[in-house]
Amino acid sequence: MPRETPKNLWRSRWGFLLAATGSAVGLGNIWKFPYITGEYGGGAFVLMYLACILAIGIPVMMTEIAIGRRGRGSPIDAIGRVVRENGGNPLWRAVGGMAMLAGFMILCFYVVVAGWAFAYTWKMLDGSLAASSVEALGGVFEAHNANPWQLGGWSVLVALLTLCIVGKGVQAGVERSLRWMMPGLAVMLLALVGYAFTSGSFKAGFDFLFHFDASKITGEALLAALGHAFFTLSLASGAILTYGSYIPDDQSITRTTFMVVLCDTCVALLAGLAIFPIIFANGMSPSAGPGLIFMSLPLAFQQMPFGTVFGVLFFAMVSVAALSSAISMVEASVAYLNEKHGISRLKAAAASGVVLLLISLLAMLSFNLLAGWTPLGKNVFDWLDFLTSRWMMPLGGIFMVLLAGYALRSEIMRDELGLPPLGYALWLFMVRYVSPVLILMVFLHALGWLGFDPVQRWYWIAGAIGALAVLGEVLRPRIVQVLAER
Ligand code: TRP
Repeated sequence: MPRETPKNLWRSRWGFLLAATGSAVGLGNIWKFPYITGEYGGGAFVLMYLACILAIGIPVMMTEIAIGRRGRGSPIDAIGRVVRENGGNPLWRAVGGMAMLAGFMILCFYVVVAGWAFAYTWKMLDGSLAASSVEALGGVFEAHNANPWQLGGWSVLVALLTLCIVGKGVQAGVERSLRWMMPGLAVMLLALVGYAFTSGSFKAGFDFLFHFDASKITGEALLAALGHAFFTLSLASGAILTYGSYIPDDQSITRTTFMVVLCDTCVALLAGLAIFPIIFANGMSPSAGPGLIFMSLPLAFQQMPFGTVFGVLFFAMVSVAALSSAISMVEASVAYLNEKHGISRLKAAAASGVVLLLISLLAMLSFNLLAGWTPLGKNVFDWLDFLTSRWMMPLGGIFMVLLAGYALRSEIMRDELGLPPLGYALWLFMVRYVSPVLILMVFLHALGWLGFDPVQRWYWIAGAIGALAVLGEVLRPRIVQVLAER
């Protein structure tokens, strides 16, 4: 079957790298990673996280990019084409549909959080954060959320910026904007690390992040590390797959994946090195939870020389990171409407924008007018987060590796990945046996159905991987039949 001619391609070799890094680097890196690292025991957690990135993050990302490039299209169409080439069941397109939907749903609450970052950049400047205690800053945060016009205004601003960029196209919108956003992000981050270095508590921050304590290797921490590995790399939400469909044929998927993952991990670690010394230098607690960057940090900046300048810089950095992630969440939907239904990208972005505004409005109002409206026990904001991170991303991940590891003929992936035999065997081993078991475990845990501690019972996991390897090979013709045939 002749290869699909790509409609869009990145203009330069950096295109995909910039875009995928932009998608991966977000609030997950700057806020969540430093904070959960502190909560789960510093260096021990960092080590587990790195292991999870290697064991499932990298193989799954390679898979998504390869499927995107092979199928050359938005998730539904790309998977459809790859499966058709393979002579398989078109139902697999549903996996692409779910991924696309997950990306869009994440966007609906992400614009609210990104709106916080944009608003705080402004508030840092106009003096409304000049409070004398963390409690008072908590009041500022609550007041911001209680006012639907303020909260909504900033979120709508983020949504409009995102839609304009995506509407302009892959090269003229996404690639061009990221060409200055990503270097800008790097410069701001390095400036902040330098500032933290001069704060006097750099060593305390460093030790907090990297002090290794073996007793901190626990099942809870391992599960958190696994879940975060998935989230921070934007996997199973259509973003990486769609961006992958614009990669030129001669670019190495493996090398590119390693670069994206390296950048993502470095940003997470550097963000920790920027935040914790500042927190410690002002005698604050590193485990303040969700309020860490919106309550403790603004106060810390106020107490330091040039604090306002660096405070603005910090929130501007968070805003850029969030915006570059938001772009990738809407790209899949816009690409889908554009390719499948021939709607121009600008119109597709406008149409997505209408749906986005309607749903995210409910998420914004969860904090004020609709605060009491909790259908089935959660408000809309929490539902969007819960459904995507607990159900859709892990399920999408499992189906993605089943597709690549079992349903597709091995030449297809081998062709795309272009790995030497040993590297290919390693990728296949991870995708066929290790990733499904580990993702399933995180999934069951997130639902509260995992009845054991994965660190204490590590041999159960090893056994499950071994059993899958043996059973998977013995029954493979049968599995392939079930998974791949109409
Ligand atoms: N990786 C992003 C972060 O670290 C968050 C994210 C999760 C995401 N899933 C996504 C971004 C899908 C874009 C698309 O903040």
